[in-house]
Amino acid sequence: MNSEQPFSQRWQQVQRAATELPAPDPAARAHSLRLTEVIRQRITQKGGAIAFHEFMQLALHAPGLGYYSAGSRKFGEEGDFITAPETSPLFARCLARAIQPILRNLPQQQVLEVGAGSGIMAAGILQELAALHSSPDSYTILELSADLKQRQAETLQPHAERVSWQDSLPEKFNGIVLANELLDAMPVHRVIWQHGKLQECYVACEQDRFIWQAGPLSDPRLYARVEEIIAQLGELPDGYVTEINLAAEDWIKTLGVQLQQGMLLLIDYGFAQHEFYHPQRLQGTLMCHYRHRAHADPLILIGLQDITAHVDFTAMADRALEAGLHVAGYTTQAHFLLGSGLTELVAQTEGDAVQQLELANQIKRLTLPQEMGELFKVMALTKNLQINMPGFRLRDLRNSL
Ligand SMILES: C[S@@+](CC[C@H](N)C(=O)[O-])C[C@H]1O[C@@H](n2cnc3c(N)ncnc32)[C@H](O)[C@@H]1O
Repeated sequence: MNSEQPFSQRWQQVQRAATELPAPDPAARAHSLRLTEVIRQRITQKGGAIAFHEFMQLALHAPGLGYYSAGSRKFGEEGDFITAPETSPLFARCLARAIQPILRNLPQQQVLEVGAGSGIMAAGILQELAALHSSPDSYTILELSADLKQRQAETLQPHAERVSWQDSLPEKFNGIVLANELLDAMPVHRVIWQHGKLQECYVACEQDRFIWQAGPLSDPRLYARVEEIIAQLGELPDGYVTEINLAAEDWIKTLGVQLQQGMLLLIDYGFAQHEFYHPQRLQGTLMCHYRHRAHADPLILIGLQDITAHVDFTAMADRALEAGLHVAGYTTQAHFLLGSGLTELVAQTEGDAVQQLELANQIKRLTLPQEMGELFKVMALTKNLQINMPGFRLRDLRNSL
């Protein structure tokens, strides 16, 4: 393993930028130090460095200590970031209206949501489906975090008879699988293209902090992926750093095999491959969220901040096809919501001037290009099912994949 000086220097600059973040309180600092110690021990066991994807897995999901496993408030105004279902109830209502006709025509009316956060989207969907006299037979949640499962159970108390939790993907599933902002939270491999050679980004310790190191590839598929990218898009610039989400690819492949009949509806921020691996995106797409500030240094605020990477939707579509799924739709969140009846829902919503203003703000956040409207995409993957969802009619982006 060789240390790459220019690479770690660049990251020191990012760390300096990150010093403007609000300081954690003493309890949060103590918590962060406990997780830091767990990661340090792992680095020592592994001979001095761990691949970034293992660091990200521990930082987000180490039992009882990782960002998603421990008890701090993540979503909403008091947390670190706001997702679409936390932004507005209109999001879950639109999704419910989009899936209702499909659900009705499936022999088994089952929904599986993966990574359900606070449970607010599940509650909104179940409420809207009930209003449409189309409640599903079951609504199952697959959630890694014990802490969030507890929170979901509280949110979903009024729907308790229909909702249950599972610890792993079912071996066979018929129905609709939903995942909002799940793939971006999966641990990614980080790679660097230097002097015509592909290396992987590792995390090591230096005194009391974590630092980057370059080292050999920990998974041979990384080389194959980058070869595919270079074949499609041409040579990468020297020093180019990017991410490859093998965990998300594996997840799609597993679900693709296990889904017997139905649809996977994925909503996340990301791009098609030519945009994701654009030569000017020199530092990749890693992004951290801490108390509504976004920055690019995952090696600080250990366990206190969210770490995400954008989704390469071309890779998701490729793995889906390999697993026997059909790419039935791909568009922006704005077009999906508008096509699914957002404006009609708003027109039916009553309220005083203040409530109407709040509603207008929520719609802006969900649909404007500079907010969530363009960056967030919706992808439908189907098996043994023909769909014709209005959400995909306004703009079909499949040929961009
Ligand atoms: C960014 S949050 C999104 C939460 C929610 N879907 C929303 O939109 O508000 C990511 C969620 O996925 C969960 N998660 C991450 N990786 C997971 C996995 N492999 N399986 C199940 N849940 C996972 C996290 O615990 C968290 O609930």
